[in-house]
Formats: sequence, structure tokens, C-alpha cells
Amino acid sequence: MNIGNLLMPPGAALAPMAGVTDLSMRVLSNEQGCAWAVTEMLSAKGYVYAPESRAHRELLKTDAREGVTGLQLFGSDESMLSEAVKRLNDSPFVFFDFNMGCPAHKIVSNGEGSALMRSPAKAGRLVESMVKAARKPVTVKIRSGWDREHINAVELARISEASGAAAVVVHPRTRDMFYSGEADWNVIAEVKKAVRIPVIGNGDIRCGQDALRMLRETGCDAVMVARAAQGNPWIFREILAALNGQSFIPPSPEERMRAAVRHMDMLIDTYGEKLGVMESRKHIAWYIQGMPGSARLRARVNGFASRNEVAEALEEYITALERG
Ligand SMILES: Cc1cc2nc3c(=O)[nH]c(=O)nc-3n(C[C@H](O)[C@H](O)[C@H](O)COP(=O)(O)O)c2cc1C
Repeated sequence: MNIGNLLMPPGAALAPMAGVTDLSMRVLSNEQGCAWAVTEMLSAKGYVYAPESRAHRELLKTDAREGVTGLQLFGSDESMLSEAVKRLNDSPFVFFDFNMGCPAHKIVSNGEGSALMRSPAKAGRLVESMVKAARKPVTVKIRSGWDREHINAVELARISEASGAAAVVVHPRTRDMFYSGEADWNVIAEVKKAVRIPVIGNGDIRCGQDALRMLRETGCDAVMVARAAQGNPWIFREILAALNGQSFIPPSPEERMRAAVRHMDMLIDTYGEKLGVMESRKHIAWYIQGMPGSARLRARVNGFASRNEVAEALEEYITALERG
């Protein structure tokens, strides 16, 4: 599958997640066969006003261990979006993605994210402003609509295509569902029938078989995974195996712990020890989810402020597991 002139690797993509898909998560996902990844969302306006802020430097941090990665922008102002794109044209990210899906109140109340689904003409102008400024493909990520009475993903996908978007990602929940309820994959199928650009399906893929089912049921060109990759970068290997009709061997508890420690170390590289250890808590909780004694281990880990204490606790946990 191509996004504009880019030939994308096979497999599932890692979806953008604010506070989650920073460099560390993208590197670990790439190692496990993720096809491509998208950064956390970056405010076009915030970036234009303070391009060198610490938060922006952290968000834009990338290195050679990354695979194919797109940079997601959000905003509601044509001049800000095109200015941000111009300034970021030379960044290593190989495409831009435009956020029309974020349901958060503070984003929507500024007319950004999923609020744009209520203003299709404006949304089209914003996509066009990015496309004109970009020397890379621009993709658009949408929801199914604002609420049940306003399902307009097909309209937004058509407008995005007409405005020059190279692909569209569909997360078929309405804004008012936030992340609850079930994604309605029928909406992905409808969008696929309505546009010629590639359609990437997203929502509720939790295993290899889910990915196959979404591809089969919706006809979408590729799939994208968000929450199921939290603490589980192996989902990408699992999906690749399913696509190739191969079996998948899940990671051992030891592999999980090793990945958790590496994840923490990469977070520390970016944010320093204090913040990196704090940031790692949620990831560690995801890595150990469902394992015996995980609640106790989580409580223990959350009490530590230093890298070595956390790493030791995880090490001890593995030894205890091995001893049964
Ligand atoms: C913690 C979190 C942060 C998210 N941040 C973003 C974001 O920055 N940009 C975006 O387009 N979607 C964001 N999303 C939505 C996901 O990309 C995805 O569309 C949604 O979670 C549905 O996919 P899933 O069922 O595989 O989780 C976020 C989701 C979560 C759970």
C-alpha cells in the first residue's frame, strides 16, 4: 500500500496516542514489525509560537531506530497549519497526519480535533493548506462523526480526498463516545467504497485475528492499532504472523519484563530519570497486566523514584515467578 509516493511496509500501523507514542514506544513497536507509526499530536499553533520548547523537542525527538513515521498535527487555523508544515518539512518524519478525531474537551472547545467534523468545508480548507505547504504526503484521521445523529465520515473522507489527502484513517466511533462502546466497522467499509485514496481502518483491534477480520469485513487497505499496543508491542508481530498464515508465540514473562525495563530506559533518555521513571509507571502497568501478582507489583513499582529500584523490583518478580 502507498501513502502518496511512499510504499508502506506490510503489517499494522501504530496509531497516534498523546502521552504514549513517543520515541520509546515507536522504537519498541518498530522492532516487533509495526508497519509504520504516528507521533503524538502536536499543536500547529503551539509549535509555531514556541518551536524550541522542551515539550516540543521531546515530542519531535526521533532517531535511526525508528521505522517509517508520520507526524500528527492538530489545529483549526490555516495559516498556523501551513506555517508549522513548512517549518517541519525537513524533519525526518516522512508524512504529515491531520487530527480530526481528538474528542478531548479542551481541544474540541477550540474548534480543533473532532470538532472539525462539524465544519466539513473548513476541514477541507485546513487539509488543503497543509497539502499546499507540504513536501510530503498528508493523511487525515477522522472519527465516524460527532454523534449518532451526525455520522459523516464519508463526507469528510471525500472532502479530504478532494483537498489532496493521500490517505484517510477511520476510527469509527463518534466524538460523544470518546473511547467507549464499540467501533462500528461498517463506517470503514462505507468510506472505503466512497474514496479512491487508501483507507486505514482503526478501532478495537486486539489480536491478529481482529486485524484479519477488519481487512476482510471492511475492504480497508491497512489497519492501525492503538490501545492493544500499550505494553504489548508484540501485537505487531502477531498481526504480521496472522497476515502470513503463520503461528505466533507470545512473549515470555521475562521478555515482557526486559521490554518494560528497556522502555523505561528509553523514557529516561528523553525525559531524564525523575520524569522518565514517572512516565514509565503507566507503561509498566500495561506490560504486567494480567500477570500473577500484577497489582502488588504495580503498587511496589509506583513507590520507587529511581530507575535501579524499579528494574530490581521487576527482576525480583521474574525470579519469584520462575520459582513459582
Ligand atoms: C491515550 C490515548 C491517546 C490518544 N491520542 C491520540 C492522538 O494524539 N491523536 C489521534 O489521532 N488519536 C489519538 N487517540 C486515538 C487512537 O489513535 C485510536 O484512534 C483509538 O484509540 C481507537 O483505536 P484502538 O481501539 O486500537 O485503541 C488516542 C487514544 C488513546 C487511548
